[in-house]
Amino acid sequence: MKGIVLAGGSGSRLYPLTKITNKHLLPIYDQPMIYYPIQTLVDAGIRDIQVVTGGKNAGDFLRLLANGKHFGLKHFGYSYQEGEGGIAEALSLAEHFADGDKTCVILGDNIIEGNIRNAVDQFRLQPRGAKILLKQVSDAERFGVAEIVGNRIINIEEKPKKPKSNYAVTGIYMFDATVFDKIRTLVPSARGELEITDVNNSYIREETMTFSFLEGWWTDAGTFESLLRAGNLVAQSRQKETKPPRVLGQVGD
Ligand code: DAU
Repeated sequence: MKGIVLAGGSGSRLYPLTKITNKHLLPIYDQPMIYYPIQTLVDAGIRDIQVVTGGKNAGDFLRLLANGKHFGLKHFGYSYQEGEGGIAEALSLAEHFADGDKTCVILGDNIIEGNIRNAVDQFRLQPRGAKILLKQVSDAERFGVAEIVGNRIINIEEKPKKPKSNYAVTGIYMFDATVFDKIRTLVPSARGELEITDVNNSYIREETMTFSFLEGWWTDAGTFESLLRAGNLVAQSRQKETKPPRVLGQVGD
């Protein structure tokens, strides 16, 4: 399975922090934001990873991450998104890299406490379709929200004013190779973006979407509040660690 980290977009909600750098290079406690999603993929046993970035500071990703050798990676690549046409558009730029394989896609501002290895291993065995990870939240209107009936998701609504559940769709998605054909059928949403929620809904209509619940805390880091929360959560986790602090940028266990 290939790993894709989406780190494009303008980071406008963090202006002026993002005036002269990319959101994903900002610090979360003691590491640059982008280290966390990369490490999440590495910890899940994924070794072939591409970052999709954009904007004026894309060159800084190369300076920071180089060839990914210190994450123990076999391959580390880059793709450039012109403009900010949405998460699904950013993903479409990795089609050549995916080259027909399954992909595990993570948003560059999603930080988690736990490990997604079990979900990734389950998806390796899933013959086709997609898999997403859900998390119960108290502010579901900020996210894609899953409507669940029995043991199936029947629909996902992007940032609903009145959420039908408190299950947020986290920014960790697993797709089969048909994802790129599905993206080609999308039309821009009211906010002018190709939405990952529309991609997920087409898997739901096809009845090939599975899901599991993410364990441990989860946060995005794209607003002042969530950026601060992410830093505090990482700091608290470090304090709870009984073993020597985990150094990001190394192959996980
Ligand atoms: O964090 C999870 C949420 O992420 C999901 O629940 C939502 O369904 C999903 O739409 C997304 O919502 P946001 O509005 O928070 O996404 P945002 O525009 O902040 O983008 C999140 C990341 O996606 C960003 O850090 C980089 C990447 N991205 C985003 C855009 C718009 C790109 O690579 N290119 C883009 O054009």
